Amino acid sequence: MATEGATAVADIWHDQGAGTWLLQTRSTAYAFGLADGGAALRHLHWGPGLPAGAPTALLAEAGGEPPRWERSRSSARERPDEYVPWGGLRYDEPSLKADYADGTRSTEWRFTAQRLSRHGAGTTVELDFTDPAYGLVTTLAYRVYDEFDVIERWVVLRNGGEEPIVIRQAHSANWWLPDRAGWRLRYLHGGWGAETRLAQTTLGPGKLVLESRRGTTSHQLNPWFTLDPGGRATEESGEVWSGALAWSGSWKLVYELTSAGHLHACGGCNDFDWAQRVLPGETFVLPSFAALYTDAGFGAASREWHAWARAHVIGRGDRTGLTEPRWRTAVGSAAPAPASAAGAPGDRGQRLRPVLYNSWEATSFAVSQGGQERLAERAARIGVERFVVDDGWFRGRDNDHAGLGDWTVDESKFPLGLAPLIKRVNDLGMSFGLWAEPEMVNRDSDLYRAHPDWVYHFARRTRTEHRNQLVLNLARPDVADWVFGQIDRLLAENNIEFIKWDMNRPFSEPGWPAEAGGNPERIWVEHVRSLYAILDGLRAAHPGVEFESCCGGGGRADLGILGRVEQIWTSDNTDGWDRIAIQEGFTQVFAPQVMMAWVTDSPNWWTGRRLPLRFRFHVAMAGALGIGGDLSRWTEREMAEAAELVTVYKVIRPVVQQGRLYRLASVPADPYGAHQYLSDDGAQVVILSWWGPSSCGGGRPPVRLAALDRGARYADADNGQQYWGAELLHEGLTLPGSSHDDFGSALVRLIRRSS
Ligand code: DGJ
Repeated sequence: MATEGATAVADIWHDQGAGTWLLQTRSTAYAFGLADGGAALRHLHWGPGLPAGAPTALLAEAGGEPPRWERSRSSARERPDEYVPWGGLRYDEPSLKADYADGTRSTEWRFTAQRLSRHGAGTTVELDFTDPAYGLVTTLAYRVYDEFDVIERWVVLRNGGEEPIVIRQAHSANWWLPDRAGWRLRYLHGGWGAETRLAQTTLGPGKLVLESRRGTTSHQLNPWFTLDPGGRATEESGEVWSGALAWSGSWKLVYELTSAGHLHACGGCNDFDWAQRVLPGETFVLPSFAALYTDAGFGAASREWHAWARAHVIGRGDRTGLTEPRWRTAVGSAAPAPASAAGAPGDRGQRLRPVLYNSWEATSFAVSQGGQERLAERAARIGVERFVVDDGWFRGRDNDHAGLGDWTVDESKFPLGLAPLIKRVNDLGMSFGLWAEPEMVNRDSDLYRAHPDWVYHFARRTRTEHRNQLVLNLARPDVADWVFGQIDRLLAENNIEFIKWDMNRPFSEPGWPAEAGGNPERIWVEHVRSLYAILDGLRAAHPGVEFESCCGGGGRADLGILGRVEQIWTSDNTDGWDRIAIQEGFTQVFAPQVMMAWVTDSPNWWTGRRLPLRFRFHVAMAGALGIGGDLSRWTEREMAEAAELVTVYKVIRPVVQQGRLYRLASVPADPYGAHQYLSDDGAQVVILSWWGPSSCGGGRPPVRLAALDRGARYADADNGQQYWGAELLHEGLTLPGSSHDDFGSALVRLIRRSS
């Protein structure tokens, strides 16, 4: 146990005598303290800032006997513990459940050590709890950042005993909310072509479980939430607690209002069908789970997520800093690639996204050197900066029945390989990108014919196909090596500056017969760890290459994958009208900078809806702009309009991608949707607005802007008209465009003139 005294490293205070810790973020505080003689870590506070001495007083209050009413109907064990090993009188959702070699299935522990450390722009505290009987050491880690209100938690399990330990359930964090009434939960749900749409419910007594059992983050639910008491928060006001799990595989989040009346939100890797054997001396690191508190509404929570991810997540690799890339250099090359090629990893979150062209909706699998060159020439004419060849470029890939796994160029489509096309693209002033789906295989492929045992399967069960493909068992080191080698070779042999990493099906038959009797259930977690290691290795070996996470649309959007990519494909549904809700949900947690949005053809292939080109652009300009239409069929007038809009996008891009986002109005609740982007210095304002069919001849009321300087003048960059900040905040801005146009849109750019 700790001795008398107090220590502080930057933002974390530790009172050794009392056994309390206070984590101070930029404007909030989080506190916990040891209880039951070190056998428990009691949660004390998460919310507004606290004075340094407060946690000790809070612990004294929380540490006493529970009130009589509580004693009579529940147990002291239901008092909020930061992390709850299953055992004793614990009946709420536990954080940790482990099996020991002698048949014991509960865990007891004592606090044994703590470490405070400073790293870059943050501070970490780690607390060790040791099971004296079996040697399991559970480290609870917390990290706070100087400039942000985000707190990141993760857990490390180390087997310090002499027998294997089997982990059956292990959460990354257990977040306790203050005792308030009527908690509203907001979360993201959807499906293929309908991802990241906002849903909400009021939590009553009992549990609500949201999860993915698909092996991926999933289109259906996303591991992000907000909680606000009484459903009182709005976009720009009220207390909000928000969390996001950094994990790209099956996950589970449990929202539980306990019988003692406390609400907790806890979770991590999904325990369904999962077990992880940890051998003596081995360490198992759980993914991180970040969360924040704000008293300024959902918009403030989103802006905090965006800014923090740009500074500390995008392209940064492992959140815990505990796993090393397994492959550091390109296969066959002894020398590491120069780190200068793309700047330090930390810069990646600050890089603007180039305007991209992708040929998928134009050509489907019918790619060819000539066809792609013609599209590239048209793309360059309208100002595209990166040209991406999608599915169909490799051997046997004329449709979705064959080819996955055989990652060599189809010479009937590209007789001299990819080099001539890449050169043409580069000569046109664009960088070149390529699509791949490295975790997959078609039965009709040389890879599957040679290695039918490389896919997940059960010995005497059907291998269920989805899109005619099966999932490679990345838990196998030989398969992971092979996948790394294929993409590494492509990157080493060609001037490829961007990989769109796709994953078009969820898992089924998650078996590994050769491991029967061992621990094949670990594939759920090992697949994702292996994917991360491959991406980390490729990024270390090819630092000039950028990546996009795609999963049949937006099925792999989470903070874990965001550490390995620069951008995320939001949805295969590129209908501008549908995209408004999908993008609005996506921006709850992810910055516009990482939200890939394409302008595609009209009528839309998915919905059949016809939308004006300008409308489609204005919706896509709310994120990282891409063009995905068949440019060979765009008229000269459309090409000219597209070129003009791409030019405008490049002007507003820094504000849209890296400014602060204010969701001013949302359809269908409001007569139009409107987003405002404000540069960090407050000098530049961009408003994008979209509306649907007009109704009963009603007009559109002015849109009230946010966060402007009331005493400053703002000038419309297009027509010079000037407004007072106060006027824009209170009276609002009348959006250009007729009040009767169906599916109309507007883009307004304001420049602050003076105060
Ligand atoms: C699904 C992706 O979301 C699409 O953009 C496209 O890349 C296809 N896969 C290609 O098979």
